Amino acid sequence: MRLTVIGTGYVGTVHAACMADLGHEVLGVDIDAERIASLSAGRPPIHETGLEEILTRTMALGRLRFSSSLAEGAAFATTHFVCVGTPQRPDSKAADLRFVNAVVDGLAPHLRPGSLIVGKSTVPVGTAARLGRRLAATGTDCEVAWNPEFLREGSAVQDTMCPERLVVGVSSERADTVLRTVYGPMLQAGIPYFSTDPATAELVKVAANSFLATKISFINAMSEVCEAAGADASLLAGAVGADSRIGPQFLEPGLGFGGSCFPKDIRAFAARAEELGAGAAVAFLYEVDRINTRQRRRTVDLARRILGGTVADRHIGVLGAAFKPGSDDVRDSPALAVAQALRDGGAAVRVHDPEALDNARSAHPDLAYALDVPKACEDADLVLHLTAWPEYRHLDPADLATVTRQPLLLDARNVLDEPTWQAAGWTVHALGRAKAPATGLVRGEPS
Ligand code: UGA
Repeated sequence: MRLTVIGTGYVGTVHAACMADLGHEVLGVDIDAERIASLSAGRPPIHETGLEEILTRTMALGRLRFSSSLAEGAAFATTHFVCVGTPQRPDSKAADLRFVNAVVDGLAPHLRPGSLIVGKSTVPVGTAARLGRRLAATGTDCEVAWNPEFLREGSAVQDTMCPERLVVGVSSERADTVLRTVYGPMLQAGIPYFSTDPATAELVKVAANSFLATKISFINAMSEVCEAAGADASLLAGAVGADSRIGPQFLEPGLGFGGSCFPKDIRAFAARAEELGAGAAVAFLYEVDRINTRQRRRTVDLARRILGGTVADRHIGVLGAAFKPGSDDVRDSPALAVAQALRDGGAAVRVHDPEALDNARSAHPDLAYALDVPKACEDADLVLHLTAWPEYRHLDPADLATVTRQPLLLDARNVLDEPTWQAAGWTVHALGRAKAPATGLVRGEPS
């Protein structure tokens, strides 16, 4: 089958490559000519395990190529996946749909009769219907379906080739048949396929992300209570998550979530629900967001308390810049938000990350960076563990203690082995435990 994939960001590049790998003939389209040139040379804009290999292989087989012309895309196929970004609007919490609208408007005059537009971007419920009306107003008789994407950064290829489920929102049997053909090999492999109306499919995506974000903020709320009550949030999470109805995933107390999806998706969902008159039903998402943001402030506050009431002129070594391990993405990174706040408070902050240093440098040019952990922690009064990269779990705390000014650790991800660090002479602090130091202490929630 011939397909176009419009937008060659995270979702689009991976989708285009994976669809070509499934055996389809794919044209990837993007208005960014530089990106198209680099993709055409086999260089993906992002690092994802296996992606470059699939690009190279499918391009060599002639099944995948790239173009910056929407008109060429419209002529190439009758099924068009839309994978452009839907960031938060600068003036509100709602999603900015200008890129999605521009794609549909750009395609409209060139579409072949009976074409199917399939949105993959995360959008406010009702978008497919609205775009359908927009197309109809131009006299174009094409269906708009929605097929949300659930891939995670760091395992994008695996998540696309072997998803836990496929969800398609369609208005006709014809569109359903087209999508069953696109995903034929996956259906044959037994991957569950949920065929719904477009509104339900759009909602599945934001509901899933909201649930996961809520789960994270739930355990972080428990972690605040643990601190106040003298209990241990990690032990609590382990015991609560052992209930198979709850499960241990996304139940790790710590610095909380970031990235390009959860924060903006829960805000956009709450804003859309308000527009629909159902705001009260998801008002709790604002609290989920607040709990999440508070974890960053609580981490900064704890660092200040550990250092005796001020971070000014203190040296702080920061482990981690990416928004999560396994990614070089620093968009809305909790680690960098904390590092920046400490820097703004007058600390000398030096950040290490195994993958994200270049992106971190561009986003936060006034922070200092180090290519290795000992360099980041040299002369540090405090070491902060902010992104749970596996390599940090294998650090030798005794070695690290020889370069720092004092062996003080704040593990804001609650994953380093406390007894090992203590045995090497470190004093270990963490969120969600009852051990906040007494110096300069304002106990409880920061304002
Ligand atoms: C998330 C969803 O997991 C994907 O299913 C979805 O497709 C994607 O958003 C999207 O909407 O495009 P992603 O943002 O790549 O994927 O990252 P996750 O692995 O879900 O992690 C999100 C954030 O939660 C990270 O900052 C992570 O560190 C944090 N997290 C995760 C916690 O703070 N605690 C946990 O227990 C788990």
